[in-house]
Amino acid sequence: MTTPPAPARRKITVPAITAMKASGTKIAMITAYDATFAAIVDAGGVDMILVGDSVATVVQGEHTTIPVSLDEMAYHVRLVARARTAALVVGDLPFGSYQVSPQQALESAVRLMKAGAGCVKLEGGVVMADSIAAITRVDIPVVGHIGLTPQSYHRMGGHRVQGREAGHEAGGRDRLLDDAVAIEQAGAFAVVIEGVPRSLAAEITDKVSIPTIGIGAGPDCDGQVLVLHDVLGLTDLRLTFAKQFADLRATSIDATRAYVGDVKSGVWPDDEHSFH
Ligand code: KIV
Repeated sequence: MTTPPAPARRKITVPAITAMKASGTKIAMITAYDATFAAIVDAGGVDMILVGDSVATVVQGEHTTIPVSLDEMAYHVRLVARARTAALVVGDLPFGSYQVSPQQALESAVRLMKAGAGCVKLEGGVVMADSIAAITRVDIPVVGHIGLTPQSYHRMGGHRVQGREAGHEAGGRDRLLDDAVAIEQAGAFAVVIEGVPRSLAAEITDKVSIPTIGIGAGPDCDGQVLVLHDVLGLTDLRLTFAKQFADLRATSIDATRAYVGDVKSGVWPDDEHSFH
């Protein structure tokens, strides 16, 4: 059975994402790192495509997101932008490309916008407020990212749920509320909340007027984001919070085995698949 062609969609803009919170329309975001998959998830109807620094782990084979460079992120943003999707493309600022100063953050954001992003995302709350303000001041839309921020891997002692304990220190519940407010005040138009208790994500979603997009943050956020490879079942990693909607790893292994079998047995290519 072939999938019917996706209906043409209007370009999804930053104001359209903002309006979705007001109208109570859930926002669906997914990652993609190249033109082929960007076109596929766009046909599937996502609102936002995140060219995430998770490219480091799911594509580059790294253990954390820390090694990926700005040059590499700009390259992947360019690949996704070439798919000319209706979905809004979010370019993720990698570790080391924005933490030094607001000036560095602005210059890195400009790089990703020139590569084709429609907005940028960066991790951190209160301490990143000046950088978010510097970027939004020149009309580059920013998505914040708080909670389990993978670039803080070493501070967190691994990829650990944040906000379980009260407190204003990094990773504390009260601090995460402060982070969300700081991000909104600095001008971000949305915020990703990752790896926090459901009750905290709900409280933040109530407290801020910008859309919250959750990953491992429960159902009460204004939207959800997942990594493409987890949605499609492309790896053998099974995460508690993620839902696998297909098993493309098994399908791909089966297809490859069938191909190898046909080549080895000489069944393919046959006359039908030959030029005359
Ligand atoms: O890089 C990424 O994929 C992300 C999501 C997990 C939100 O930042």
